[in-house]
Amino acid sequence: MADPQDDATVTPYALLGGDAALQALVARFYAVMDEDPTYAPIRRLHPPSLEGSADKLYRFLSGWLGGPPLYVQTYGPPMLRARHLPYPIGSLERDQWMACMRQAMADCAVPEPLAAALGEALSRTADWMRNKPGDLPRMSG
Ligand code: HEM
Repeated sequence: MADPQDDATVTPYALLGGDAALQALVARFYAVMDEDPTYAPIRRLHPPSLEGSADKLYRFLSGWLGGPPLYVQTYGPPMLRARHLPYPIGSLERDQWMACMRQAMADCAVPEPLAAALGEALSRTADWMRNKPGDLPRMSG
């Protein structure tokens, strides 16, 4: 199988700036969630220490952006929706997660059009995490 690192295609991972830039983005994402009381509704779903959460999100996004598949190597198939079922997630939580991510992208100076494209793609993933009865994602178009 081809090593994704050898692929000549420019990945979002490369456009972002690779490993160090991704780690900085994830660190900023969780710092925003932790420090801004606006985001208490999603902060309190997480464990007291955000270290493990940050490491998992970093690993997941590494592969998702076209870089090394660090999450899959350690934890296997992401099955993100299933893994989020223990946490009540509706439109409010989805929108808060995206607001933290958009703030983090701005703070880390993620350039356009990459930031807009990531925002779009992550919004779809975040929407799919909704699992509250009466506030579920639409199953089709
Ligand atoms: C929609 C709003 C979301 C909320 C409220 C939320 C919340 C959470 C919480 C509470 C955890 C558990 C943290 C821990 O075990 O330390 C978690 C885990 C995780 N989240 Fe989210 N999340 C959301 C969306 C997303 C999105 C959009 C992604 C990816 C783009 C994502 C990626 C992950 C990953 C990779 C894990 C670790 C899963 C595991 O291995 O158990 N989450 N999330």
